[in-house]
Amino acid sequence: MSQTETGAPPPSINPLQKFWLREIGIEKTWLPAAPPKARDAARGSNAEPAQALQPRAAPSTATPGGDAPRPAPARPDAPAAASPAPESAAPRPLARPAPPAVPPAAPARTEPVVPAQDFEALRGQVIQCTACGLCSGRRHAVFGMGARPARWMVVGEAPGEQEDRQGLPFVGRSGQLLDAMLASVGLSREKDVFIANVIKCRPPGNRNPRPEEVAACSPYLMRQIELLKPERILVLGRFAAQTLLGTDATIGNLRGRGHVFKTDDGRSIPMVVSYHPAYLLRSPAEKARAWQDLRLAAALA
Ligand code: URA
Repeated sequence: MSQTETGAPPPSINPLQKFWLREIGIEKTWLPAAPPKARDAARGSNAEPAQALQPRAAPSTATPGGDAPRPAPARPDAPAAASPAPESAAPRPLARPAPPAVPPAAPARTEPVVPAQDFEALRGQVIQCTACGLCSGRRHAVFGMGARPARWMVVGEAPGEQEDRQGLPFVGRSGQLLDAMLASVGLSREKDVFIANVIKCRPPGNRNPRPEEVAACSPYLMRQIELLKPERILVLGRFAAQTLLGTDATIGNLRGRGHVFKTDDGRSIPMVVSYHPAYLLRSPAEKARAWQDLRLAAALA
């Protein structure tokens, strides 16, 4: 995998988007009013002019975080029963920056993951996975949920407590904010977006995933991307961004510009990095930047 940079048009907003911005706590923006076809542009057409690339300079203050529990909403794509998965080509673990100084994790229980080529087989494989020690503490592995085919793919870090309970991604307060953010650009997880995490099982106490857990789990995410073939990927938070881009750059360096994610099968998928919703809940002043990132993702060619 590798990354390059792409241009993007200047953002603008229409009344519907203003409504959703108010819903997610942004009362004012400095963005210009949208032209008549802005909603179409926000949903992926190529109508807006390109924006100059930005340098990788500013330091980041972003850190992902935990998610307060909320009552369980009904989700249309609940995890299916596990089924055995056929073997396929060797996996490509995602690159990861230097490992943090942490105690060793529980030993892996199986050979390295060889992710299935069929999406439902892959789901069953994830549900049954015992490739790292996280399986011993989980209620559910969280495969992901959303639209198929998916116009967008959203990639987060790892399940929290509510996600572990329900077996679905982003169902806590972060998930509510994520849904509002997606709605602000005319998208929903039901119709347009597939949501998944780098790590499929909850790390105890929502601790940061360990490098060996990322290495064991990331082949599943790679295969999900290859099979879903989304038009673009929105990566939320420092951990997921560093994992997918194979860098230790900060969110401040990575957000606000386009990247390209290259799959093993030769596909180039436009990708945008933004703040994790859990961070936005703690730092609402950054929501305006997250909105800019969403608009950038919507406008990437
Ligand atoms: N945070 C994440 O990164 N993913 C989830 O699914 C929930 C919270």
